[in-house]
Amino acid sequence: MNILVTGGAGYIGSHTCVELLEGDYGVVVIDNLCNSNPESLRRVQELTGKSLKFYEGDVRDEALLRKIFAENEIDCVIHFAGLKAVGESVAIPWKYYDNNLNSTLVLTKVMNEVGMKNIIFSSSATVYTGDNEMPLRESSRTGNCTNPYGWTKYMTEQILSGMANADKEWGIVLLRYFNPIGAHHSGRIGEDPRGIPNNLMPYITQVAVGRRERLNVFGNDYDTHDGTGVRDYIHVVDLAKGHVAAVKYVLENKGCEVFNLGTGTGYSVLDMVKSFEAVNHVAVPYVITDRRPGDLATCYADPAKSANVLGWKAEKNLDDMCRDSWNWQKNNPMGYGE
Ligand code: NAD
Ligand code: WQD
Repeated sequence: MNILVTGGAGYIGSHTCVELLEGDYGVVVIDNLCNSNPESLRRVQELTGKSLKFYEGDVRDEALLRKIFAENEIDCVIHFAGLKAVGESVAIPWKYYDNNLNSTLVLTKVMNEVGMKNIIFSSSATVYTGDNEMPLRESSRTGNCTNPYGWTKYMTEQILSGMANADKEWGIVLLRYFNPIGAHHSGRIGEDPRGIPNNLMPYITQVAVGRRERLNVFGNDYDTHDGTGVRDYIHVVDLAKGHVAAVKYVLENKGCEVFNLGTGTGYSVLDMVKSFEAVNHVAVPYVITDRRPGDLATCYADPAKSANVLGWKAEKNLDDMCRDSWNWQKNNPMGYGE
């Protein structure tokens, strides 16, 4: 069984390649390296002792996609490739609509041509409206996105589900990730953001390793147990295993199904800082600042559907996430760039 992994050199993609190779799937990656380093793929192969095939290029390159499908017998696509910086998407919306929508349109056009119609898409909890009750179920309200990045995820869900409605040969899984953190336990692969991290955990690890002075905690006056924002953090290896479960599902089921990939438990920013310090015996100095515009107080998943239908459940706990995030950062203080 061969899986084409778009964006496979990135954070979640590289961890998923490990799980796929360990599950004896053949892996073909296409990535233009706009937000990643090919060293991740070298290390994926080193970790697993197995090789994968890498095409450096853009998913919007129709000719390259045709070549990949001609040269490889692909059974399923996992489509990670996309831009994900929320703030940048507000500043340069066209770039996000072009990259994230056209990559999916070109990819599914070529898949349709070659008659290989199984795809798993990286969606996000960001598609849920901010006025839902917690926990978020797959049936909770979606839309009203607060930034172009979120709209690209919402629109891609619409595009793919519309295709499945119109053509019963498509097997489509939309995975709504909550907040992926952590790294492979080896510390060889992990998240390597460019510039100043937007997300909480990479910021914490860069403070701990001395690359940044202190963490800014965005608000402590939310209606949560300690006033700071609560999120459903999920270990990236659990998330990667969720994709292997989704591959098995999509190979046996047609139509379009959506699944939350989260743990069902929410932790606050200060819970994260305290656990990180306690587990790793390092200090994370922080200061409370203003709220970040667009942030919600609380966001966590109901993961029951994934458990019942995919047979998948997150297994790692907060200590594992904090330990593995730190293990990656301290062994690779400058990420893959060192
Ligand atoms: P990442 O940036 O580490 O990985 C994305 C990869 O896609 C990168 O290697 C990048 O070089 C590549 N890429 C981007 N556009 C491309 C294109 N047009 N052609 C070829 N390659 C391209 O991000 P990640 O955290 O691994 O996220 C993977 C997917 O999951 C993204 O679609 C993201 O929006 C989605 N997602 C991420 C999170 C998160 O918090 N990390 C949460 C929800 C959803
Ligand atoms: C988590 C909590 C912040 C940084 C984002 C995207 C979402 C999805 C995942 C892709 C919040 C607080 C953060 C910092 C802080 N990505 N925080 N100081 O906002 O839940 O989701 O990433 O789909 O679309 O919006 O994650 O890690 O940015 O923030 O206090 O320096 O940490 O306010 O409460 P978020 P995050």
